[in-house]
Amino acid sequence: MKVLVIGSGGREHAIARQFANSPSVSGVFVAPGNDGMNQEVTCVPIGVLEFACLADFVKKNQIDLTFVGPEQPLAEGIVDYFMDRGLSIFGPTQKAAQLEGSKSFAKELMKRYHIPTASYDTFTDAEQAKDFIREQGAPIVIKADGLAAGKGVVVAMTLEEALEAVDDMIGNQKFGDSSSRIVIEEFLAGEEFSFMSFVHDGKIHPMPIAQDHKRAFDGDEGPNTGGMGAYSPVPQISNSVIEEAYDKVVIPTVEAMAQEGTPFTGILYAGLILTDEGPKVIEFNARFGDPETQVVLPRMISDFGEFMRALLTGGDYELKWDQQAMLGVVVASDGYPGDVQKGVRLPELMEMSKGDTVVFHAGTKMEGETFVGNGGRVLLIATKADTLRAAQERVYNTLAQQEWNGFFYRTDIGWRAIQ
Ligand code: AMP
Ligand code: GLY
Repeated sequence: MKVLVIGSGGREHAIARQFANSPSVSGVFVAPGNDGMNQEVTCVPIGVLEFACLADFVKKNQIDLTFVGPEQPLAEGIVDYFMDRGLSIFGPTQKAAQLEGSKSFAKELMKRYHIPTASYDTFTDAEQAKDFIREQGAPIVIKADGLAAGKGVVVAMTLEEALEAVDDMIGNQKFGDSSSRIVIEEFLAGEEFSFMSFVHDGKIHPMPIAQDHKRAFDGDEGPNTGGMGAYSPVPQISNSVIEEAYDKVVIPTVEAMAQEGTPFTGILYAGLILTDEGPKVIEFNARFGDPETQVVLPRMISDFGEFMRALLTGGDYELKWDQQAMLGVVVASDGYPGDVQKGVRLPELMEMSKGDTVVFHAGTKMEGETFVGNGGRVLLIATKADTLRAAQERVYNTLAQQEWNGFFYRTDIGWRAIQ
């Protein structure tokens, strides 16, 4: 079986590597991929939105399955495009991808089907939004309706912050069209976890849960990012909570999407928060999470290619997962999630991949003989071990052996689980 993975980040590196490690898979291509994964798989210089070129590549090279990593091509209809051409692809249609691409779509669906989530209202008018905020008081949460690379959420602890967020999003169009409509949401407090499932034709295969670290700095301080590190499993979330989330969120969402005439195929990512009233939805994504994938997918023992084939052809398959824990720390360019400088030289990365410790490349580029930074989140170093504590220790020991001038990482990934 030959597979094409679409995307270029650490998540896609993890997906591609998992396919490459599957005995059933004979060839793995990534479009466009990045220099760091080029040694393991074949990178193809086609952008994620060049649908016609991608489809041509698939036909010409007799690719059996295309797997979509990021949200943007999904939101722009890559799955519809491939299906119209009879090509096998894994991901939601453009309509189903609205579950992620439009927060108001997701919120309305949850309301209609009684799926637990924060109460909310939607606004396109800044003054009405501000009146609502003054009525509700802080803390309160302001979200850009559309895609914003994980940065379109402001958890405002004060009224001033909330009002400013409205001005930024609607007034200054901070996220362009994505923030011309905003969702204002009740603030929820509790432990967060990411619950991802493979979904096709009403069948659901849940994965072990993970916890991301959204804030840029230690102690969960600083601005929201795409994610600064993750680990799996999450011992402080009990199995009964996971079952409750499965029964009250995952299953009803898959059923609701089918009822609405937009059946969901792909990775259903539920971002959940454990409140006093049980788990509630913070967000849905219509794809694998980054960096959660880098600590969940390598725990899969089953043959990924074989599983995907079974899933898409309606066969039964029991996924098997490693009991070991995995923890990963993101290295980002100084300044992230704001503007960053590209081209800064990275330390020797080869030495870091040893035994159960692996490097996932996100924004790296080869310049001469060395890797340089080429984006905000540059790479993720992860390790598998018997306990989270052991994994954490090993990752940080590995990181400490190098100089990271021009880059930074959080030093407390996993702190909620390891005290
Ligand atoms: P999102 O991009 O929707 O995942 O939101 C980014 C982060 O903002 C989440 O991981 C939460 O930490 C926080 N957040 C989002 N919605 C809420 C909410 N209703 N209450 C509290 N925190 C929230
Ligand atoms: N790590 C969160 C996301 O992928 O959206």
